[in-house]
Amino acid sequence: MVSVRQSRGVLPTILTLIVLLQGVLATHGHQHVHRSNIKEIEERENILQKRATIAITGIKGSVYPRQEIRTLAKNADQWNLYLLGMQSFQAVAQSDPLSYYQIAGIHGRPYVAWDGVPGVNQGGYCPHVSTLFWPWHRPYLALFEQVWYSHVQSVVNSFPASQRSRWANAAATLRMPYWDWAMAPPSGQSSVPTLIRDQTVTVTTPSGQQTIKNPLYSYTFNPVSNDLGGFPYNTWTTTLRRPVDGSASSTRSNNNMFASIMDQNRVSLRDRVYNLFVTSAQFVQVSTEASGSGTGNPSSHDSFEGTHDNIHVISGGESGGHMYYLDYSAFDPVFWLHHTNVDRQMAMWQVLQPSTYVGTGQLTQSNFQWNAGQVKNAYTPLKPFHKDTAGNFFTSMDIKSTSVLGYVYPETQSGASASSVRAAVNSLYGPGSSSSKRDVHIAVPYEGRPLRVGDHEYLLNVNCLKHGLGGPFTIYAFLGNVSSDYTTWPTAPNLVGSNGVLGAYSPMNTSNVQIEGCIPLTTALQGKVASGELAGLDTYSVSAYLKKNLSWRVVKAGGVVVPPDQVPGLHMNVASCPIIPAESFDEFPTWVGYPQVMANVTAGMPAGTPYIPTGGSPSSPYTPGGTGTPYSPYTPNHGSPYNPSNPADEPGYCEVDTTIEYVDMNGNFLYAEKN
Ligand SMILES: *[C@@H]1O[C@H](CO)[C@@H](O)[C@H](O)[C@H]1NC(C)=O
Ligand SMILES: *[C@@H]1O[C@H](CO)[C@@H](O)[C@H](O)[C@H]1NC(C)=O
Ligand SMILES: *[C@@H]1O[C@H](CO)[C@@H](O)[C@H](O)[C@H]1NC(C)=O
Ligand SMILES: *[C@@H]1O[C@H](CO)[C@@H](O)[C@H](O)[C@H]1NC(C)=O
Repeated sequence: MVSVRQSRGVLPTILTLIVLLQGVLATHGHQHVHRSNIKEIEERENILQKRATIAITGIKGSVYPRQEIRTLAKNADQWNLYLLGMQSFQAVAQSDPLSYYQIAGIHGRPYVAWDGVPGVNQGGYCPHVSTLFWPWHRPYLALFEQVWYSHVQSVVNSFPASQRSRWANAAATLRMPYWDWAMAPPSGQSSVPTLIRDQTVTVTTPSGQQTIKNPLYSYTFNPVSNDLGGFPYNTWTTTLRRPVDGSASSTRSNNNMFASIMDQNRVSLRDRVYNLFVTSAQFVQVSTEASGSGTGNPSSHDSFEGTHDNIHVISGGESGGHMYYLDYSAFDPVFWLHHTNVDRQMAMWQVLQPSTYVGTGQLTQSNFQWNAGQVKNAYTPLKPFHKDTAGNFFTSMDIKSTSVLGYVYPETQSGASASSVRAAVNSLYGPGSSSSKRDVHIAVPYEGRPLRVGDHEYLLNVNCLKHGLGGPFTIYAFLGNVSSDYTTWPTAPNLVGSNGVLGAYSPMNTSNVQIEGCIPLTTALQGKVASGELAGLDTYSVSAYLKKNLSWRVVKAGGVVVPPDQVPGLHMNVASCPIIPAESFDEFPTWVGYPQVMANVTAGMPAGTPYIPTGGSPSSPYTPGGTGTPYSPYTPNHGSPYNPSNPADEPGYCEVDTTIEYVDMNGNFLYAEKN
């Protein structure tokens, strides 16, 4: 259940804040606050006493795994409760801070304070394109799960007493599911389960079976208003995926197109996810797509955030479905399934690379609460998420383990080791991992084969300015001829993959946000060898082949095609790296050295010139084998266009647990409080 209480002790909270604001935070020792401060605080107490603080705890009690959506659906009772809980949650009045609307609204619009945490900019709270991308979403998801679960409990209690123990048993181990969009779907099925595409669903309620609107298909605004910005978002009464007509006030989702595009991109997404797990690097490198001077990320070529962007852009679509824009995405129920998977990727990565974690870096873009250029680190308060009713915030250090929030994942349950996670990653995403029997009616790209001695990995690396086109866009890569009709590109049989760039509806002061992405080429090239079109996977044959056959296209919002050389900051480069296959199922292949750019492939092609990062050459992204480099201290770059700040200046910054002693003017002890 959610604890929403009057702050038990407003006074100590304020005192703590004052202490922190003064920047006198110490790593140990005691703080002293004088009575003159207390007086000032007491004057503000009346205003603040009214404020309830929402403590995020996740589901309290025991720790259970969040299951993959298709696994959870096999447990009929748990699935039933999941849906009924979602239905009940989505029905809560939008004026309630614990409504689906307001919790989704933390991420982007309506750009208002949540749980009393003030903002300074027109934007959502989410710190994308920064070192906090991964950890910030962890307590966010826990909040969602905890509130949803309180509805599940109410649903359980609404059943007749004679049935209650059955439903209570099902609820006891229930956690919200994730959607693994990178794994091979069950034979004959699309990557996008019908579980989230069906408009209605049949559930068992206390009054028997009923067919209800599927709460995973869309969220219905109640009501939709100008709080969601201008047209069309103030007229669309439900969330939409790839709306058929993005300029109509009333239109419908095209989930079938969403599914077809995911199927055409699935192998590419699988390969991205696999490469990210295999090639060890620092946490910041794999977690955020932000790159360049000041971000803390020397350049890693790809990231889980970049991969995550693709799902947003594909599910929302260029016609402006909610997932397409940061500002609207969290209202679509698929956001929660998607982000739970991204959180799972973080948890799995943490098991593989325990010595590296959230680093120090500048925010690349402003959001509701922060300005671009501010430096954040692992002790930065993940606002607006309170960990207790006293008003303390979670920091990344608090949520290193998912167990503190009441959940694990199938791959990270107790007993999980780096070796067991590697085995799981190999089996879910490894080369040739998805060669299950497929339905012949679903056209899928070549799925790859196990690696062999002498193989190389080939990557099409993408570097660009995230907001260069003033909103999201997608880069599509092809082998062979490309149709002039852009609507055929996302599902073209010769599409190798796409790199979607999630953007904001109206980006703030963000002209120079550098990001990186990747479209892996290896599997598609293996397919060309298998079909006899390409002689071999050696660098000479491949570079000659790619020079003739590789091309790319760019499409932004509204389906506007942009010539690649007119995309600000875009550099498309092919790199190769020799690979040594793994010797056992719980080992990873080894990348020998670092991927080397083959400039001869893209020379003369639009946006095909080599990428030279500002601030010098990147330290190398991929460390072959072994463990990631532990985080090394970072010096803010004072020469940047931003104004670097001291992360410890942040109200709520908490480096360690401190005990604060409150004293009167004469230094006599009043009371102590653990921070
Ligand atoms: C690649 O280029 C060669 C030479 O132009 C051509 O024969 C082959 O058909 C091309 N492959 C594709 C997939 O277009
Ligand atoms: C690509 O287009 C060219 C010119 O239209 C044509 O000659 C060639 O056969 C096409 N290749 C493929 C693989 O379709
Ligand atoms: C954007 O930049 C302008 C000019 O530097 C500044 O006045 C404004 O406050 C900035 N807005 C945001 C949201 O950072
Ligand atoms: C292109 O350059 C790479 C080295 O970057 C080299 O291995 C390859 O043989 C070159 N390809 C051709 C066709 O010359």
